[in-house]
Amino acid sequence: MSSSRHVLLASLAIAVLALSSAGAFAQDTIKIGIVVPMTGTSGAVGREISDATHLYMAQHGDTVAGKKIELIVKDDQSVPDNAKRLAQELIVNDHVSFLGAGLTPSAMAMAPIATEAKVPTVVVVSGTSIVTEKSPYYVRTSFTLGQQSGIIADWAIQAGSRKAVAILSDWAPGAEAGKVFADHFTKGGGQILDTLKVPLANPDFSPFLQRAHDLAPDTLFVFVPAGQAGTFAKQFAERGLEKSGIKLIGPGDIVDDDDLPTTGDTLLGVVTAGLYSAAHPSQLNKDYVAAYKKATGHRANFISVGGYDGMHLIYEALKKTGGKTDADAVIGAMKGMKWESPRGPMSIDPDTRDVVQNIYIRKVEMVNGEPWAIEFKTFPAVKDPLKEVAAK
Ligand code: PHB
Repeated sequence: MSSSRHVLLASLAIAVLALSSAGAFAQDTIKIGIVVPMTGTSGAVGREISDATHLYMAQHGDTVAGKKIELIVKDDQSVPDNAKRLAQELIVNDHVSFLGAGLTPSAMAMAPIATEAKVPTVVVVSGTSIVTEKSPYYVRTSFTLGQQSGIIADWAIQAGSRKAVAILSDWAPGAEAGKVFADHFTKGGGQILDTLKVPLANPDFSPFLQRAHDLAPDTLFVFVPAGQAGTFAKQFAERGLEKSGIKLIGPGDIVDDDDLPTTGDTLLGVVTAGLYSAAHPSQLNKDYVAAYKKATGHRANFISVGGYDGMHLIYEALKKTGGKTDADAVIGAMKGMKWESPRGPMSIDPDTRDVVQNIYIRKVEMVNGEPWAIEFKTFPAVKDPLKEVAAK
């Protein structure tokens, strides 16, 4: 063989190799880029989403419909501009086929990018109603504060509450929790004595708890986001509210399972309406809690299931589309999807792309030396009430 023929063959081989590996990359790998806070006040949220999504892949494999799945988790430090830039980079540089959106302000900032690039995006954390309306490619597996806050207001009225003070983390999900709670509570004949707003970052609850105590309500409605329940419980006890006779209630966030093991007796008896308790008595959940604990050392919480179910939704949608990632096909596959989650049965509302799930009323009780939110009443298949109102 002549040497020029050798060179030709060799370069041909390289070209074929390069082509086929590029082809394999484009066709056979599907990337998912999730944008969450891994540091700062909400750093626990990113850890929980990262842990739960990786756990899902470890349990279900990294191949779906013949495609290899690759997961990329980025830290936006809870800064919306960072989330927007990271979403752009994930699309342009990493060629992701799916995005995962985290906190409400970041999810809001990412929406135009997802819409413009037509990238199906699973909202795995945000609890604010409006977020799913910001892009036709947004689908939510987390929750809304409205889903929980109306139900706990109705329960409190039934249990005899009439005068409430609200303490709310001062950002969109707090405003929504407070609004839906107040609507239901006042409709039921209750009165809101005051609404106190606590800064989101590095919160000091003490002055607000003091003010609430001084107003002598029968009930304290509190929303603090994931990652803050432990601090809140500590300051609640320090201010003597634990023994004041004031009933503490809220959406599930104030009894976050990630914090509960460290709260001792402080939150015993607290009643909340939430979508997930690590004590949910299904076999699927027992297995989930055990696997999560084994993989991470932490108790699974309501944020983690948003990530776990987000991966489930992506896997099942890809099975339906035969691995196609075209946004309209994927969103079509996701609409109306129903499954059994560690939280219980859930589905995606085909009209709103929002999560439909059971909301449970739970009371914190000591079980085997640790506090757990024990479910005692179930409201099945609850939709986001703010969208329900808007549709009427
Ligand atoms: C939100 O980003 O809307 C959010 C985050 C954490 C929570 C609740 C809401 O616990």
